[in-house]
Amino acid sequence: MMNKIKVLSVFGTRPEAIKMAPLVKKLIENEVDFDSKVLVTAQHREMLDQVLDIFEIVPDYDLNIMKHGQTLGDITSEVIKGLDGILKEFSPDIVLVHGDTTTSFAAALAAFYNQVTVGHVEAGLRSGNKYSPYPEEMNRSLTGRIADFHFAPTKGNEENLIIENIDRENIYITGNTVIDALKSVVDEKFKFSQAVLAKLDFENRRVLLLTAHRRENIGEPMENIFKAILKIVQEFDDVELIYPVHMNPVVQNTAQRILGSEERIHLIEPLEYVPFANLISKSFLVLTDSGGIQEEAPALGKPVLVLREETERPEAVDAGTVKIVGTNENNVYDAIKLLLTNKKEYEEMANAVNPYGDGETAQRIIDIIKKKSNFNR
Ligand code: UD1
Ligand code: UDP
Repeated sequence: MMNKIKVLSVFGTRPEAIKMAPLVKKLIENEVDFDSKVLVTAQHREMLDQVLDIFEIVPDYDLNIMKHGQTLGDITSEVIKGLDGILKEFSPDIVLVHGDTTTSFAAALAAFYNQVTVGHVEAGLRSGNKYSPYPEEMNRSLTGRIADFHFAPTKGNEENLIIENIDRENIYITGNTVIDALKSVVDEKFKFSQAVLAKLDFENRRVLLLTAHRRENIGEPMENIFKAILKIVQEFDDVELIYPVHMNPVVQNTAQRILGSEERIHLIEPLEYVPFANLISKSFLVLTDSGGIQEEAPALGKPVLVLREETERPEAVDAGTVKIVGTNENNVYDAIKLLLTNKKEYEEMANAVNPYGDGETAQRIIDIIKKKSNFNR
């Protein structure tokens, strides 16, 4: 009888958890082929636990590292230290990491130090600027340098890896598991249980959905974004702005200070994934510096203005549904105003665009791991 493949899936933040959930669920279900364990670093605590609850994932290991005001060095060193013993104890055939967080990079490095094979889910996205997104661009590149298998969402992502001399044979175009996750939660008949959302009139008001949290935007760029948005809400009286504020205290303070006292601006706690995905689908427009939302909103036919100077996700920009507007106050203001006042511009952006797969990405990755199961141990 063939031995089961021992897989350790490692993640720590909200977006990794959402995108790893479809894969982890399938690995756990398939007891014939896999001995699957989940390790959370808990680089995020509450925002991670929200996702674990929704997808009913109970981690086998929890490093519980989050501290308020944690530095990149704190996260990196805690993850490497925490993983070392577990890698020795469980002795996985492969460690799966996701994307571009410091959890992902540090986990890949810890696996390498223990000579364990690394599979990189959501590999090959590049902005080309090492400081934007910061530190994610470098986290993802370094993880790619370490990884043995690269699960690239798109052809463009594969090309980025080939340019960096990654062996073609180890790159697989799989789509993005974000579509698997999204398909499992969006429902036209969805009703919100949060009072502020339940009483919003989505038919007669224009609801703008904002998220902003990026490290490189903290400080002046974020202030500029918020000031532009405040002006918009004050100018258009049929606009309501919903902002589920990231738990980073610096982000919370800035949001409260600039946006906190306008009646039609609703600063709320981070939403669970199911209401959040359904909120995208009911909104008029999405304003964001998030990575994942640049993939989800286009799939739901919502125009996205990206509050960053560049993106490692050019696919929906090329298709016309996503626009990069940067963080200059006037530019952000002008870009939102254009979509509120020019129907043609809005209609041109409001197309369902999904370059990120068919919702079967998790299964595809699992089939590849099964085929490649002659790992060196
Ligand atoms: C992290 C990732 C970023 C990802 C983002 C998703 C890194 C370096 N950054 O950034 O790539 O886009 O997550 O949201 O890997 N906090 C809580 N509770 C939580 C989560 C965060 O209180 O559940 C607070 C803590 O005070 C924490 C701070 O937020 O210190 C910052 O968290 P951290 O993970 O360091 O950075 P993010 O900006 O969340
Ligand atoms: N998200 C969520 N609740 C929120 C805000 C975002 O569930 O209040 C989801 C969103 O749908 C996406 C992911 O979290 O799947 C994006 O996370 P985030 O913006 O924190 O990180 P990034 O994608 O920028 O790394």
